[in-house]
Amino acid sequence: MTTQEPKHVGDIARAIRDQAIRKHPQIATAPRKPPTDNLGLGDPECELCGGVGFVRLEVERDHPKFGKLLVCPECRADYQQELARRAYERHVATIEQYSIIPRPDATFEEFNHSNRTANIHAAKIAARRFAQGEAKNPWLVLYGEVGTGKTHLAMAVTHVLRERQESVLFASAPDLLDLLRPGDDKYTDELLSIAREVSYLIIDDLGTENRTTWAFEKLYQLINHRYNTLTHLMLTLNDSPRDLPDRLGSRIEGPQTTLIRVEDTDYRKKMRREKHA
Ligand SMILES: Nc1ncnc2c1ncn2[C@@H]1O[C@H](COP(=O)(O)OP(=O)(O)OP(=O)(O)O)[C@@H](O)[C@H]1O
Ligand SMILES: [Mg+2]
Ligand SMILES: [Zn+2]
Repeated sequence: MTTQEPKHVGDIARAIRDQAIRKHPQIATAPRKPPTDNLGLGDPECELCGGVGFVRLEVERDHPKFGKLLVCPECRADYQQELARRAYERHVATIEQYSIIPRPDATFEEFNHSNRTANIHAAKIAARRFAQGEAKNPWLVLYGEVGTGKTHLAMAVTHVLRERQESVLFASAPDLLDLLRPGDDKYTDELLSIAREVSYLIIDDLGTENRTTWAFEKLYQLINHRYNTLTHLMLTLNDSPRDLPDRLGSRIEGPQTTLIRVEDTDYRKKMRREKHA
């Protein structure tokens, strides 16, 4: 950004455009003029929005967010956190009702990485960073064979986030979809907004849900929302994201993701073998 005071926010938009695209490829430009609501402006030093406080997303013309402005994820993170906190307070009862209660022993301390592969160790380190809010990317995706500790790590992350008093919703993909399926349950809409708004959304076992068009669309909508708002998401799955339908897979593999393939023997089998030895 130039040190010169720009005359018009349009100038700022042009000046920051290249930088912004490099940094967050799915964000095209800062808006030409700030929106009229009174949310306040961003940090004048912000490279992403140039101080406008809002950004516009590079999305297809038929996308619901086309032409809409989003609060700048870079310099208005405080504002986003505040929104998440308010949403959490509104919904805390529902979250507690639907979030899986992580097993108390599924912690980082209990997660053993000696005699495990380097990837397992890398996954543990990345998960810990993610849980402590120290990861460079807002998304963490672990994929790999059964019994390699993905769910254990997702639970350990949930424990730490709760200790840190972050709002977190942890659910398996099939459970989440069951709960979101329209029915007579009055919580469906509320749960959907929670899943969109919580600071941390953790979806375990993506890909094990029923592969209906409805289920895909629902998951896509949710994951795409987290993508557009660049908010924290952790996913675990068995298959490579490459094996998912393109629209979903390409977002999951986007530049906002720390993607780790966990490879090792099945820990469940290992424990069974040691027990019988
Ligand atoms: N490195 C580890 N240290 C301690 N316990 C582990 C470790 N890895 C896995 N476990 C334990 O082994 C069992 C299986 O792990 P987990 O359910 O996390 O695997 P997963 O990768 O989620 O498997 P799946 O793909 O079948 O969902 C759990 O009881 C978990 O606590
Ligand atoms: Mg699992
Ligand atoms: Zn900004």
